[in-house]
Amino acid sequence: MMLARIPEPELMADAAQGLAYAEADFSGPNHQFLRLFAEKFPDFDGQGRVLDLGCGPADILIHFALCHPRTSCVGIDGAEAMLAPGREVLAHERLEQRLELCCRCLPFDGRAFGRFDVILSNSLLHHLHDPHVLWRTVADVTAPGCRLLVMDLFRPSSRRAARQIVQTYAGGEPDILQNDFYNSLLAAFRVDEVRSQLAHAGLSLHCRQVSDRHLAVWGRLEPAWNPSGC
Ligand SMILES: C[S@@+](CC[C@H](N)C(=O)[O-])C[C@H]1O[C@@H](n2cnc3c(N)ncnc32)[C@H](O)[C@@H]1O
Repeated sequence: MMLARIPEPELMADAAQGLAYAEADFSGPNHQFLRLFAEKFPDFDGQGRVLDLGCGPADILIHFALCHPRTSCVGIDGAEAMLAPGREVLAHERLEQRLELCCRCLPFDGRAFGRFDVILSNSLLHHLHDPHVLWRTVADVTAPGCRLLVMDLFRPSSRRAARQIVQTYAGGEPDILQNDFYNSLLAAFRVDEVRSQLAHAGLSLHCRQVSDRHLAVWGRLEPAWNPSGC
């Protein structure tokens, strides 16, 4: 029998959780995310407005901004405890002029932020009790030709498999992180479930497994609204 999804709390609002997350080493998956972006969008011209949904400490967005100095970036997360460590890095890297971190929960009114040429999101989807919220938000803030990359965990076939993944990749991490990781694996969606979400949202995007624990969604988007205003 397939493992049923067990949702976890949406926001990581606890200060200890935020600190443990910021101090953990996510360089492997974060670099994989940035590599995937470069691989899926080799024609990216390195400019435009970039949005990271559920950015947390914004490690990925900060690296993206440093690699692409002609972008202007917005990171959105509903938990100030997760954003706080990122704000310190912004000052240190002198990125405050073109990278803004906003404490806001999805769903939000997309018009508040305008349209984006690039939309990124790593490990947000599995937190959402209603996953359609992510895809509706994406559709709301898409500029013509927007490049989108979403990466997340996928749900393993059993609790035993989930425990093995935690042991393999976080065996040496503090208990709080190991528990979060285990709960996240149980809350994650399978590739077939994400494909159904995309079909429901009318989004023509690719969705594939990209590692033994991650899936990715990517593609180019056109807004449902009429950009010429006619
Ligand atoms: C696992 S963390 C990922 C953080 C970051 N993207 C990364 O890759 O390190 C998930 C983040 O999504 C945020 N989040 C969850 N539900 C949210 C919602 N409805 N609106 C905004 N942020 C949300 C959490 O607060 C948390 O910071």
